[in-house]
Amino acid sequence: MRLKERLKGVVPEERLELLSSRFHVIGDIAILTLDPRLDCYKREIASALLDQCRNVHTVFNKISPLQGERRTFPLELLAGEGRSVTVHRESGFRYHLDVAEVFFNSHLGYERMRVAEGARAGEVVLVLFAGVGPFAIPSAARGARVVALEKSVEACRWLAVNSRVNRVLERVAIVNADAFSMNSLLKRKFDRAIVPTPYGMDRIVDLLPGMVRRGGIIHFYTFKKAQQIEELKKRYQDLGLEVLLCRRCGNVAPLVSRWVFDMQKL
Ligand SMILES: C[S@@+](CC[C@H](N)C(=O)[O-])C[C@H]1O[C@@H](n2cnc3c(N)ncnc32)[C@H](O)[C@@H]1O
Repeated sequence: MRLKERLKGVVPEERLELLSSRFHVIGDIAILTLDPRLDCYKREIASALLDQCRNVHTVFNKISPLQGERRTFPLELLAGEGRSVTVHRESGFRYHLDVAEVFFNSHLGYERMRVAEGARAGEVVLVLFAGVGPFAIPSAARGARVVALEKSVEACRWLAVNSRVNRVLERVAIVNADAFSMNSLLKRKFDRAIVPTPYGMDRIVDLLPGMVRRGGIIHFYTFKKAQQIEELKKRYQDLGLEVLLCRRCGNVAPLVSRWVFDMQKL
């Protein structure tokens, strides 16, 4: 039975319309983003969700949008065990993380595997904005040597744990640094760069051609409106990058989507 059906008679019909059926499940934790007009029913909604999703043991409510460089958000506990540390399983990999201190998007599993499947044994891959490792670890598991750069100390700690539990520690070099200083830090050309850019940090794209060898591949993520895409393709071509693929991978705001550009350095 769907969540809304479970709440019939508990939450008035006109308020039930405000309940989104989209929520994140990260490991055994569900994260809702409740409309404030549902505030007086939040505990009923959370316990109905616990009844519905047997694999969920804690329900949080996201009480404001993503904030700061670490891309985290304040959470309000609504129901369940109340711990924010969990293990998320995705495509055979396990990611240990604390949802209160690091970013993780459980809706990008397909996209992460699509990119990882491009990595080759022996390649040297740069993953910027690496987080707890969902791009870095599958690429390392394919035999690539990965340099994973991440600014948040907490995320780097979980990245180290996840590299160990997924048995790729010897192939993942963790660099706790600012991606915008990478060209002074990293003195080599990579075969591939995976760049899940946080919102508003697109200017990183100007540094990427200098980090990848001729013929190397770049997977660059950005947040844009559809009508901006053709202009962007021209801009990347001016940077000496051939756009091989441009794909929408999730909506983040009205008219704004996450896009991935697979590009080759000419
Ligand atoms: C959108 S998240 C992506 C995380 C991960 N790749 C994923 O898909 O789950 C962005 C990550 O970039 C990190 N970050 C933000 N600004 C940064 C910077 N200037 N240099 C390096 N990492 C940064 C944040 O701490 C966060 O972990």
